[in-house]
Amino acid sequence: MFDLIIRNANLPDGRKGIDIAIRDGRIAAVEANIAAEAGQEIDATGRLATPPFVDPHFHMDATLSLGLPRMNVSGTLMEGIALWGELRPIVTREELVERALRYCDLAVTQGLLHIRSHVDVSDPRLVTVEALLEVRDRVAPYIDLQLVAFPQDGYYRCADAVDSLNRALDMGVDVVGGIPHYERTMSEGAASVEALCRIAADRGLPVDMHCDESDDPMSRHIETLAAQTVRFGLQGRVAGSHLASMHSMDNYYVSTLIPRMVEAGINAIPNPLINILLQGRHDTYPKRRGMTRVRELMDAGINVSFGHDCVMDPWYSMGSGDMLEVGSMAIHVAQMAGIEDKKRIFDALTVNSAKTLGLEGYGLEKGCNGDIVILQAHDVLEALRLKPVRLAVIRRGRVVARTAPRIGELFLEGRPASTDIGLDYIPRY
Ligand code: FE2
Repeated sequence: MFDLIIRNANLPDGRKGIDIAIRDGRIAAVEANIAAEAGQEIDATGRLATPPFVDPHFHMDATLSLGLPRMNVSGTLMEGIALWGELRPIVTREELVERALRYCDLAVTQGLLHIRSHVDVSDPRLVTVEALLEVRDRVAPYIDLQLVAFPQDGYYRCADAVDSLNRALDMGVDVVGGIPHYERTMSEGAASVEALCRIAADRGLPVDMHCDESDDPMSRHIETLAAQTVRFGLQGRVAGSHLASMHSMDNYYVSTLIPRMVEAGINAIPNPLINILLQGRHDTYPKRRGMTRVRELMDAGINVSFGHDCVMDPWYSMGSGDMLEVGSMAIHVAQMAGIEDKKRIFDALTVNSAKTLGLEGYGLEKGCNGDIVILQAHDVLEALRLKPVRLAVIRRGRVVARTAPRIGELFLEGRPASTDIGLDYIPRY
């Protein structure tokens, strides 16, 4: 007797017609035609069942604050940072909690059940940290929320950041952040990387830095991050977010850099929506894309996962918590439209991100957490193309969100009309 059986599901690895049984919050069986009963059954009717989406890079303290206290007129990264600096001193804990919880509700309906959020520690009040710690506790039954102590205004450039970052970690923030390309000089950026990696080593914490979010090919803080990772024995526990300057770097230099990233076990987190929108702003034409070298990093064996980064905040007026939108942009910007390429992109939204976050019990194997999302698509390729409805979102064997399938109605004359808008079209590969 199981608590829940999902019948006739297709899996991300291509297996079709599979049943998934869950007992006591964990996956107890994954096989065809499970001959047993369950307290609840869901017929997936040949739709895709996947582990939940994982967002490895987000800013939950800023989300849904679009227009507060004013709009970003230039649409640039720098005006976004300045605008957030205007809002930060006046925002209240209650406002932050309310907006973050609303975003988490949206995330659940999108099958997004694991989020790593940076939390700005530049304001010594640390109201952002207090708010996000409260949110982390409140959403724990349905979302795993990791928090990164992020010195948005610079670890050395902001007078209060050194103290504030340590206090945030004392309060229970999970990960050490940084922003070396925003320090006053390259050398201070490098010094910040060393200091922050030392803190992580001393405290036994992971590292996730905004690193080289710049079009400057000489912004090479990823080099220092890889070196300090090895020096402090942090291999596999360090993430470099954005890495946008790699797009503009000299090819020979990159050919020597990537092996050093491999040696350090760096996790790379590009943010396709934000990078394509905010980078290349000083270019006329041709305009650079500003996203890091995804294919080359993947080919080298580096763990690449994609972040949403922002939704309706000073930097980004778009977004919906849909990681498939992130993946769709990645396909376009990284020019990875082949079938195997798309499968790698889907992995970057799921299993790769889970590895970046160090999640335990993630996956669809027996013994994993009973966390499953059923989509109105037959496979991962269709999911990336259609960004379809999440028909059911299951957390520890319990349905936490349902959305009705999207079915169109046609009112055409002169020929038989289909009520199907193409979601059930299965292309032959
Ligand atoms: Fe970010």
